[in-house]
Amino acid sequence: MLDQSMKVDLEVASTFFRDDSGTIHCADALGFLNSLSTNVADIVFLDPPFNLGKKYGEHSKADDLAPENEYEEFIQGVLTESIRVLKPGGAFYLYHIPQWAIRFASFLSKDLDFRQWIAISMKNGFARPGYLYPAHYALLYFSKGDPNVFNRPKIPTTKCRHCDGYIKDYGGYVKYVEDGINLSDVWDDLSPVRHAKTKNRPSNELPIDLLRRVVQISGYRGGLLIDPFVGSGTSIIAAKETEMVFLANDRDETACQISKNRYLNHIGN
Ligand SMILES: C[S@@+](CC[C@H](N)C(=O)[O-])C[C@H]1O[C@@H](n2cnc3c(N)ncnc32)[C@H](O)[C@@H]1O
Repeated sequence: MLDQSMKVDLEVASTFFRDDSGTIHCADALGFLNSLSTNVADIVFLDPPFNLGKKYGEHSKADDLAPENEYEEFIQGVLTESIRVLKPGGAFYLYHIPQWAIRFASFLSKDLDFRQWIAISMKNGFARPGYLYPAHYALLYFSKGDPNVFNRPKIPTTKCRHCDGYIKDYGGYVKYVEDGINLSDVWDDLSPVRHAKTKNRPSNELPIDLLRRVVQISGYRGGLLIDPFVGSGTSIIAAKETEMVFLANDRDETACQISKNRYLNHIGN
């Protein structure tokens, strides 16, 4: 349940939805973060716009195409505020394309402890002349000092769908993989949300399993997850499944509405 320390200054970030498990706000990410108390979050999860000219809800493509220095300044402001709201021992995640992730990782390293660069296979980019085909996104994982929570999830071993045998030869180690294998820092088993049938909205949406893993690694029942760019609400569904509480935000009212509907649908209302 949300407690007093998790309160949002409502004059800054107007509340779009609220229940006992969390709130969804409709404001600029920076304003939303400014309105939060210090040292409250167990997880801050950021999947910001990438400044690639994407159209989000009522905002135009041009809104996601700022001069590079302006974009960098905006994200660095969001990172600074995210670090402030993160509890000592809390976990910080940033999902981004490698060319920005490397710059923001260096910025974050001044105040947080780098833990992992998780490579997430996403084969939906375009080949650029002079470069290898880009096939992964970065999920940066940092903590504010030693992590309070760290669980290493196991994932199922891949089996042949015809004979049910292991695809890989584990030799004498087979008894160690029967309950699954340790999750590595290369996640190549997540499918992008592409099909209209499974999508909650036309623009970007992360696979729910990505957020489930984040919450599994760093979350716990009753802990607080903060997501200032909630989009279609993927993070709040994962938080709710683990009985975490959440403070979510998006500046786009359509995104807030989609997140709210998806959440209500998830809890059966
Ligand atoms: C990449 S999407 C997030 C997708 C989300 N992780 C999901 O799974 O649905 C980025 C979101 O940030 C929102 N956004 C863009 N600029 C923003 C800003 N300045 N403040 C708050 N939200 C913003 C967009 O409306 C969009 O919904």
